[in-house]
Amino acid sequence: MKAGTGLFSALAVFLLLGAVLTQTPRQKKPTRRPGLTRRPSVPKPAEPALPEPQEPTDFPPVILGPPSMYIYCPRECSCSPSYPNALNCENRNIRNIPVIPPQTQYLYLQNNYISEVTAEPFINATEIRWINLANNRIHRIDKNVFEKVPALLYLYVQRNSLKEVPAGLPASLEQLRLGRNRISKIPAGSFRHMGNLTLLDLYHNQLSDSGMGKNTFKDLKGLVQLNLAHNILKKMPAGVPSSLIQLFLDKNRIDDVPKDYFDGFTHLAFVRLNYNQLSDKGLPKTVFNITSLLDLQLSHNQLASVPLFNGHLEHLHLDHNSIESINGTQICPYSLEADPSDHSDHSMGPRLRYLRLDGNHLSPPIPLDVIMCFRHLHSIVI
Ligand SMILES: *[C@@H]1O[C@H](CO)[C@@H](O)[C@H](O)[C@H]1NC(C)=O
Ligand SMILES: *[C@@H]1O[C@H](CO)[C@@H](O)[C@H](O)[C@H]1NC(C)=O
Ligand SMILES: *[C@@H]1O[C@H](CO)[C@@H](O)[C@H](O)[C@H]1NC(C)=O
Ligand SMILES: *[C@@H]1O[C@H](CO)[C@@H](O)[C@H](O)[C@H]1NC(C)=O
Repeated sequence: MKAGTGLFSALAVFLLLGAVLTQTPRQKKPTRRPGLTRRPSVPKPAEPALPEPQEPTDFPPVILGPPSMYIYCPRECSCSPSYPNALNCENRNIRNIPVIPPQTQYLYLQNNYISEVTAEPFINATEIRWINLANNRIHRIDKNVFEKVPALLYLYVQRNSLKEVPAGLPASLEQLRLGRNRISKIPAGSFRHMGNLTLLDLYHNQLSDSGMGKNTFKDLKGLVQLNLAHNILKKMPAGVPSSLIQLFLDKNRIDDVPKDYFDGFTHLAFVRLNYNQLSDKGLPKTVFNITSLLDLQLSHNQLASVPLFNGHLEHLHLDHNSIESINGTQICPYSLEADPSDHSDHSMGPRLRYLRLDGNHLSPPIPLDVIMCFRHLHSIVI
């Protein structure tokens, strides 16, 4: 069987070369808007001319523009004839939100020093659809604010100092970004009646299992993207809507996934559980056998074996676990003996294209049964 072995090693080397060349995982659609970062997380050395302002008195002065041709336009904002419904007040060192003109639909207040959001400035701003308050010092949003803005679709409050999800959020919301705050609690009813919400981002907060109830997500029947990465959860969040396409839970302390957790999830395509504490014990063998799943990331956990997955899965990240062996016959989603003339779903074979296994206790060559099963695999990192 010398020739056979030679062919096999050549194949393995070829695949490995491919793997090395394509090690960078494909970039996912960015979920955060670029260009909002004003204070980088890595502190720059202080510039002598502009020392870091001392709170609360030493904020740099508000930057006022020249009087606008529009009488309604606040001096700390700019108003453009090309975008008559947008009010641009970002990067102006604002502490207090100016009175918002009635026709405003898009309100940009990111990168300022706002610490509180009260209802007064919004009194006549009933048309607002989009508010960007990212990267301020907000610790409080009055619940009356949202009574004034019944048509609000997008609310961006990431990079602030909120400790709870604000109360009184409007039922009209479609996107809510609250990442990088200090949120440890989602009060009961926070998302009541919010059936139009498609995106909820609570990334990088301080949410623990007790900070959420089992009905927290109950009304979010249209939710598509949920990001709870970088919190302190030990359990999978309860009652997550089955409408989800994308569920991100990286960087928590989750050590098990209940057996029926994903029952009824018919659209779920992207699941990330990188950097948790999952071991074989906490992972029922077939929990990720989800027909719609395309991309499963379980890097940096403590798995000793490869979980079973569906033939439709395209990307699987299992790097930096404790896997010692991989048996292609056992993990193959379809029987290897399937009749190739069978025109069912199976005839194309499993769709896995990208597999990461580096940082485990595995070494090349890649077992032949893995290659035999996953014929679409064009890179494997081992
Ligand atoms: C709001 O609109 C009312 C009625 O048009 C007007 O009388 C009032 O001055 C406005 N308030 C502010 C704060 O612009
Ligand atoms: C939800 O969206 C639908 C369709 O766009 C719209 O008709 C409905 O009014 C929205 N619901 C709320 C509470 O805004
Ligand atoms: C995985 O799910 C498919 C249906 O999507 C089913 O036919 C198959 O038996 C399941 N595999 C295992 C190992 O449970
Ligand atoms: C892989 O699993 C199959 C079926 O369980 C078994 O027959 C085979 O011996 C295993 N291969 C190795 C290399 O352990």
